Amino acid sequence: MSGFVGRQDELAELGEITGAAAAGQVAAAVVVGEPGSGKSRLLAEAAGRAPLSNRFRVVGYEPEREVPLAAASDLLLALAASPATHGLEALLFADDREDAAALQPLRIFESAHRALRMVGPALVLVDDVQWIDELSLAICHYLVRAAHDRGESLALIAGGRPSGTSIALVESLAQVLPPEHLRRLELGPLASGEALELVGMLEPGLSQGAAREVVARSGGSPFWLEALVRTAGGEVDAGRLVTARLRGASGDAGGLLALLAVAGRPLAFDDAAELKGWEMSRLEQALRELVSRGVAVDSGGRVWLAHDLIRVAAAGEVPEEQRLDVHRRLGNWLMRSAGNDVRRLREALAHRHAAGLPSVDVADRLVRSPQRTLLGEEGLALLVEIADESESSAQSVLMLNEQIAALATDLARHDVALERSLLLAERWPDSLRRARALLDGARSAFALDDLDRASGYLARARATHAGDELLDLEFDVQQAALDLWGAGPKERGRALAHEAVERGRRLYESDERSRDDGAGG
Ligand SMILES: Nc1ncnc2c1ncn2[C@@H]1O[C@H](COP(=O)(O)OP(=O)(O)OP(=O)(O)O)[C@@H](O)[C@H]1O
Ligand SMILES: [Mg+2]
Repeated sequence: MSGFVGRQDELAELGEITGAAAAGQVAAAVVVGEPGSGKSRLLAEAAGRAPLSNRFRVVGYEPEREVPLAAASDLLLALAASPATHGLEALLFADDREDAAALQPLRIFESAHRALRMVGPALVLVDDVQWIDELSLAICHYLVRAAHDRGESLALIAGGRPSGTSIALVESLAQVLPPEHLRRLELGPLASGEALELVGMLEPGLSQGAAREVVARSGGSPFWLEALVRTAGGEVDAGRLVTARLRGASGDAGGLLALLAVAGRPLAFDDAAELKGWEMSRLEQALRELVSRGVAVDSGGRVWLAHDLIRVAAAGEVPEEQRLDVHRRLGNWLMRSAGNDVRRLREALAHRHAAGLPSVDVADRLVRSPQRTLLGEEGLALLVEIADESESSAQSVLMLNEQIAALATDLARHDVALERSLLLAERWPDSLRRARALLDGARSAFALDDLDRASGYLARARATHAGDELLDLEFDVQQAALDLWGAGPKERGRALAHEAVERGRRLYESDERSRDDGAGG
């Protein structure tokens, strides 16, 4: 096992719990965290440091979650083996059938409690709470309550994934123990310094850069840190891990996983059911399978995959045909529910695009939205991709490219804007629009501080179309800017700027007049 990093606060809190038991009191802690966050490891470290030599374990196993007393069997066997407790042994191993049928939980609980009292201050470690059968959970509760009521000592430290069972355990303990003797710990990701330290221990030869990359991709989860280090950052093992975790799962569980992986976002249960075309009960069954395997997490009526690496790995395993189908369903569903929400439209676009559905219309709706800068660089890249894949000379695609150039300028991606403008300067059939595109290109080059190219595009623009008053004015404004910012003398620029302002005013006034005339006539 690798070295241990971080978790100092948690260890201190757990130390107080075991310390209290060593001092003759009863105290408990429940550690809750996502799959792979390090609960089991933290429990082991805490136990190793505890001033209590009597330790017992209760561990839940998923296939046995319905089996009465399965999780507590180790604890019961250990207690039954102690010389002072033949009563318990008789209860547990009664071989005549009648006695077995009359298995009385309370008698077993009470015998276990007495046996535990005989051994002195003890630590009971409870792991994988989410899979613990009901009776075993009841024993844990009983042992704590009985010890507390009778003034004895006991420490119980439990760990589990976020689940109803974990919540129930905390709540039942809270009814018994005073608040200062009950802790609920939320185990989050490792801090990046700690994660780097762990990577350093696991793979001392790794470069700083590679280590940082692994840390970033792991999201601070120790489980995924190890998995990534083991595969030198590859995705292969994450895929294998998912496959291993899904062994024996139903086809429906696989189908739901595919949906979640391709969706890449949390889904409300009813939305997921609608997307799959399933009854709610069928969805819930598949959901339970994924959650119990630590692949998915659910809370507040929504479900998502437990880790982004799981999503990536699972998405890689989805067969092509199924992947396209999921994209199509998601795209259509999001389009229906998007309204004006630019983020949902953006998601819809991505899915329709991935499904190979016509996307230029959606892209155009999106790129003209007032909130378009929310699309960011990623959205911009997607729009470029869609435009480039579509029939390049179609009017709708030319207009889309124009809007993309404008968005790129808003996002200060002048390189992208320039590229779009040059493309349009080739493709617009009429010379006025080609000249305009070249002027836009000159502006982008100017913004990129490339004055030579800007001058070149401006000259080409002038040569492409002349005689349009407004366009000529814009040419001069751009020329003035180039002169004023260039290395040469500034006189021409200043003169041009003044003159352009004058012309601009005249143009504006005549425009006003003609509008007034139009309104009057
Ligand atoms: N603080 C830590 N320092 C070093 N290694 C750690 C630390 N925490 C966890 N690990 C390692 O990361 C891996 C995953 O941790 P662990 O099995 O404890 O997670 P878990 O939360 O119990 O997961 P699950 O809920 O799936 O059981 C283990 O190999 C463990 O040894
Ligand atoms: Mg664990």
